[in-house]
Amino acid sequence: MATVAEQLKPAAPAELLAKSLKRIKPSATIAVTDKARALKAAGRDVIGLGAGEPDFDTPDNIKLAAIRAITEGKTAKYTAVDGMAELKAAVARKFKRENNLDYKPGQIIIGTGGKQVLYNAFMATLNPGEQVIIPAPYWVSYPDMVLLAGGEPVAVPTTIESGFKMTPEALERAITPQTKWVLLNSPSNPTGAAYTRAELKKLTDVLLRHPHVFVMTDDMYEHLVYDDFEFFSPAQLEPRLYERTLTINGCSKAYCMTGWRIGYAGGPEQLIKAMAMIQSQSTSNPTAVAQWAAVEALDGPQDFIPKHNAIFKERRDLCVSMLNQAKGIQCPKPEGAFYVYPSCAGTIGRTAPSGKKIANDEDFVTELLEAEGVAVVQGTPFGFGPAFRISYATKTSDVEEACRRIQRFCGNLR
Ligand SMILES: Cc1ncc(COP(=O)(O)O)c(C=O)c1O
Repeated sequence: MATVAEQLKPAAPAELLAKSLKRIKPSATIAVTDKARALKAAGRDVIGLGAGEPDFDTPDNIKLAAIRAITEGKTAKYTAVDGMAELKAAVARKFKRENNLDYKPGQIIIGTGGKQVLYNAFMATLNPGEQVIIPAPYWVSYPDMVLLAGGEPVAVPTTIESGFKMTPEALERAITPQTKWVLLNSPSNPTGAAYTRAELKKLTDVLLRHPHVFVMTDDMYEHLVYDDFEFFSPAQLEPRLYERTLTINGCSKAYCMTGWRIGYAGGPEQLIKAMAMIQSQSTSNPTAVAQWAAVEALDGPQDFIPKHNAIFKERRDLCVSMLNQAKGIQCPKPEGAFYVYPSCAGTIGRTAPSGKKIANDEDFVTELLEAEGVAVVQGTPFGFGPAFRISYATKTSDVEEACRRIQRFCGNLR
């Protein structure tokens, strides 16, 4: 894919744009969602499985808390840059209740989505040449954020056989004197893979042996786990890592609040202060009304989460079963999130109905969209291909129909 600078070339002379833009690419997940939306607008029957957000509406109690905050006049003014005291207190309660982690208000930052929190952390800590270890497949934004902050992303490949999980040996091999952070994301976007307690313990044991390495854990999908899977955050499992761990989470996925833009983190006070300084010179506080909604999300009833999870689990099982019946597709069964990440290696070299030979996963997803109107995201931008990501956070009947179309598409390849 062309870099941002290349894409903007006709409209903007090269000298206008920062050199750092040459290093990054636009988000492939947003690109496919836009493409599916355009086809739909043109009247095509398209099922979009690209978007990484729940199809459920924000629960009513959360919406009502926001409305109440507006009518009570609590939303007119700036709040503290790093988040209101009331929300920090709710986040502290959440960390204690769900992760047995103690964070004081000075150790907590609220950002405009988990994305801003991650970005602040990299901007606040990375010097040129410092490395961030990122297991692949990874969320598309991680390497580009690291690059924008001047650091070096170091992808650690995993395999389909290991369930897309980084082994302790691979982690050990990847650590160098330049390693600043190891970034863990469990359950993962894009694979849904989540480390069991035993698997995570092996990784934290490696990290204990390397005291210069900091741990960034993106726990955004913590609540979206199936089959009695038990989630652990690294500092919860290994308290000796607490002093050098940044625990990131947010309201977007579990609370169906992607549009509200609230993420948060707990970590060492000095780091949180530096992140808040960056936020103070960029966006200032996250939107006040969204912060009040987040207080209710974290403190209010949590009973809709298992209800949503039962639906997600049904869709996951449907995808895994149907995709494994598609010719040339291999689909592991993930522990969580709302993604599956099938390999399409068995389709490479075959010919699509349009006459085009499928050379890579980008061809696969393009031809699938053209032939069957199913929008998925190619694996290469996630750091592992040939594969593709399906988000099953969409109507179950659409998920089923999309899988049926993928079966037909694969069956029709020559
Ligand atoms: C792994 C992961 N981390 C962070 C985020 C960012 O979440 P937010 O919408 O709160 O910025 C996402 C969103 O897709 C994600 O998948």
